[in-house]
Amino acid sequence: MDDLTFRSDLVLSDVHLHTPRQRHLMVRLNAVGQPVFLSQFKLLLDKSHLSSENKERDFKKENVRHQNKCLDGLNAERSTGKEGSPREETAALLDEDGDLEVVRKPQLLDAEAENCSRDKVCPIILTRGGNVLEEEEEQGNGCSDLVKIEHTMATPLEDVGKQVWRGAFLLADYILGKPDLFKDRAVLELGGGVGLVSILAAKAAQSVYCTDVGEDLLDMCERNIALNKQCTGPAGRKVKVRVLDWLKDEFCMDPDARHSWSEKEIAELYDLTTVILAADVFYDDDLTDAFFRTLYRITHNLKNPCTVYLSIEKRFNFTLRHMDVACEAYSHFQETLNDLVNIKDGKMTYTVESLPLSFPQHILYERVEELELWKITADVASERSRPPETERRQEELCTE
Ligand SMILES: C[S@@+](CC[C@H](N)C(=O)[O-])C[C@H]1O[C@@H](n2cnc3c(N)ncnc32)[C@H](O)[C@@H]1O
Repeated sequence: MDDLTFRSDLVLSDVHLHTPRQRHLMVRLNAVGQPVFLSQFKLLLDKSHLSSENKERDFKKENVRHQNKCLDGLNAERSTGKEGSPREETAALLDEDGDLEVVRKPQLLDAEAENCSRDKVCPIILTRGGNVLEEEEEQGNGCSDLVKIEHTMATPLEDVGKQVWRGAFLLADYILGKPDLFKDRAVLELGGGVGLVSILAAKAAQSVYCTDVGEDLLDMCERNIALNKQCTGPAGRKVKVRVLDWLKDEFCMDPDARHSWSEKEIAELYDLTTVILAADVFYDDDLTDAFFRTLYRITHNLKNPCTVYLSIEKRFNFTLRHMDVACEAYSHFQETLNDLVNIKDGKMTYTVESLPLSFPQHILYERVEELELWKITADVASERSRPPETERRQEELCTE
């Protein structure tokens, strides 16, 4: 018998957990042979005439409609089940271990809708094959309230950017809810993954640099920009996908590397950027440190004050060190935020605040209580906040 290989290092964004399991979900394999799926996320926009209760009800109805649609697809597949024998049909209702899988349709009862405070995301999975980009061209640029994202379902840790994470929905939701804060701004996203946040930021912003690492990921991101021209402008021109590795001190300007920067683009980035975004990038202490070093370096070189929006999801695990459940990545994130606020280099000041999540939800996802949104304001230090020259020199010597 062949040896079975179990991968224990796969991580799964639970954004996709509520997607029915079907065999033919994927649209293609990417360059490294990972199955790529296409999800369509509906935005609930332009409801300003509705009261907030109506909006919530509308949102819940939409959510149930999505779930029903997904389940209908699954049930249809089972019942048409290629007209198998009763035995085969029964087998189709069993999971891999032989347990009966019961699929229930959610009902939208008024009482339930009112009491239910947590909604499950259920992206519509498009099962058609073929060249999605070409089909999109034929159909025009699609609806302005739909975002289509190609992503993978489960990846090793080094490829987590190929999945969509709940922190991206939260940050995108904030942007959709407060477009005036992003209107006509030049935006930089760090660790943008498959590009959901940058795509939605482009609805309001003037220009967006969506950055990350890994050619394959950046290619996926570029495809998503092209898939969503209704947000990203003709030929997706509003959003540029570039490599920006927090573990490197310099921008990649290698002309042979795809997604590298030109001198003009770097100058433009420093001259124009006033908003920096990052969703769910704090899960490894070394990367968190590298992220904040990058943020410090970039904000120091910006011509204008800048607002940084960060989303984070606390993930609790049992740790032997604490003999309790703890979220070490979150604790490290908070320590690093504190360090940033306490920087007194005489050049920049950073102020940090946690933003309330009271803004309405425009996308279908579970806004769990572990999600948080943070705002950092980076500004040039005023004369008063500058430490005396000797103190400053001492600090510089300490950091050298
Ligand atoms: C959990 S994913 C979040 C992706 C996306 N922001 C989202 O929320 O869907 C973390 C992201 O950080 C990126 N990342 C990890 N190490 C990085 C590095 N050294 N430089 C730049 N980005 C990095 C990953 O590639 C990935 O896209």
